[in-house]
Amino acid sequence: MSKFFITTPIYYVNAEPHIGHTYTTVGADVLARFHRMCGDTTFFLTGTDEHGANIEARARQAGKKSLEFTDEIAAKFQFAWDELNISFDRFIRTTEQDHTKAVAKALEEMYKKGDIYKGKYEGMYCRGCEQYKSERDLVKGKCPEHNTVPEKMSEDCYMFKLSKYGPELLNKIKKGELEIMPAERRNEIISFYEKDGLNDIAFSRKNVKWGIPLPWDKTQTAYVWADAFLNYLTGLGWEGAGKKTPPQSSPKRGEGDNLFRDFWPPDLQLMSKDILRVHATIWPAMLLSLGLPLPKKIFVHGYFLIGGKKMSKTIGNVIAPQEMIKRYGVDATRFLLLYPTPFGNDGDISWEKFDNFYKAYLANGIGNLVSRIVSLVDKYYQGRVPERYDDLTDYKYKSVLIKNSIKKDWDEYMKYLKDISIFGALSIIFTELVNHCDHHISHYELWKLVNNNKEEGAKHIYGLLEILRHIAWMLWPFMPETAEKIWQQLGLDASKELAKDFKEAIKWGGLKPGNKVKKGEALFPRIDN
Ligand code: MSP
Repeated sequence: MSKFFITTPIYYVNAEPHIGHTYTTVGADVLARFHRMCGDTTFFLTGTDEHGANIEARARQAGKKSLEFTDEIAAKFQFAWDELNISFDRFIRTTEQDHTKAVAKALEEMYKKGDIYKGKYEGMYCRGCEQYKSERDLVKGKCPEHNTVPEKMSEDCYMFKLSKYGPELLNKIKKGELEIMPAERRNEIISFYEKDGLNDIAFSRKNVKWGIPLPWDKTQTAYVWADAFLNYLTGLGWEGAGKKTPPQSSPKRGEGDNLFRDFWPPDLQLMSKDILRVHATIWPAMLLSLGLPLPKKIFVHGYFLIGGKKMSKTIGNVIAPQEMIKRYGVDATRFLLLYPTPFGNDGDISWEKFDNFYKAYLANGIGNLVSRIVSLVDKYYQGRVPERYDDLTDYKYKSVLIKNSIKKDWDEYMKYLKDISIFGALSIIFTELVNHCDHHISHYELWKLVNNNKEEGAKHIYGLLEILRHIAWMLWPFMPETAEKIWQQLGLDASKELAKDFKEAIKWGGLKPGNKVKKGEALFPRIDN
């Protein structure tokens, strides 16, 4: 058993959540649930990034006070994550007092150390990215993420000695002490370090009031990224320098936990390409300055594209998670976000594609399989699980129904999820197990066999029901409600199942003969065109 601390980016509250944010968050949820399922002590942190010029301007446009505005949007994120069964341990908001206090302390510590110094920034700033831009970052003079011309800025400010940490960070990235995955992204970062190197950056703003004032110069507020990065620490109750006590609002843990001691550093930080560079430069440099261990791994997934363009609130082509939930339900939404766009790749998404995946893998796939098997048990075996049978030979497709092959599938599934291949793990469920069971049923014409030779049919039925029990376990991190519904249909109590020792639960033969199955409603009802 080990510990697992996973984070998502904290999302800007300048607009409501869309399925790009949802993609990262559901992915993190799957990994957090998987680690909990394996018995790892897990902490899953997410939240909202609420300060800065952009959000201040959005609040003004909406005719609201900044905090009133951010309260509303932060609540929408929390609501969406609750609806999607996101099992975060803490939702942190950068406007919370324990966070703002710790940020002030941390920056003061860096200032006292001489890593923050008074200077002047002259250059360009993209408000959408909340980032300083160099000529090389722009395409035809515009920020490629936001398609806007950055503002010219000339401001007295405090600077962070980022350049000081360049060589040490490059070394740590090369050695894999700070691992960046996939390899393509790691190489990109290494070549950035080697070609451009790190320059000192502005770390405070004079004209942005909506931020955390610097404790030694209250006319300036902290640069929004400096403020935001520290959420990964304050989310564990870190209080700046020295004292490390738990947060007051850590909802699922008892008081007195020393979360920081138990969980730091992050085992995995998930994000997309847009914010990798800052996470691989400024963020770890801040940690070095504060004398803290670096995250172990950053995993970068791709973009959801619509018609080849990044889905983003700036372009205005976003889909809200609620639109998908309305059409497909919660679990299917989680699946449809993850399966068609393997983590790491960009993927064009469309309603047509979602519909096709829904039909192929859910309605006609797992949904149909569960219903077919349970119906046969109902009709031919008085709804009872038949005697256990382990020696079924399935010569044609491979011996999936035999206990050894399920062990192999489990080994692969575990390896995939440990390597953050969400797609690989889902393929084990859907292309190995579900497909295979379908073929098995057709190959033996099981619907005839159970009628003509009940005893022979029972051997197949036991295997298939037991596989469904395993499928439910494998599905649980991805589609927890569906997993529970499958267990219920097998006559198992979901909470008792989940309370079992995981290693025991995934051994062959957990389903007891004589158990009464319960046919339920279709797991994935047909959808209208
Ligand atoms: N607030 C900063 C992050 C600070 S973390 C210390 C920020 N916020 S954001 O709201 O813009 O979120 C960016 C993240 O949202 C991406 O890195 C990714 O996780 C997710 N996505 C936003 N749009 C997306 C797509 N179109 N496709 C995939 N992921 C997307 O940056």
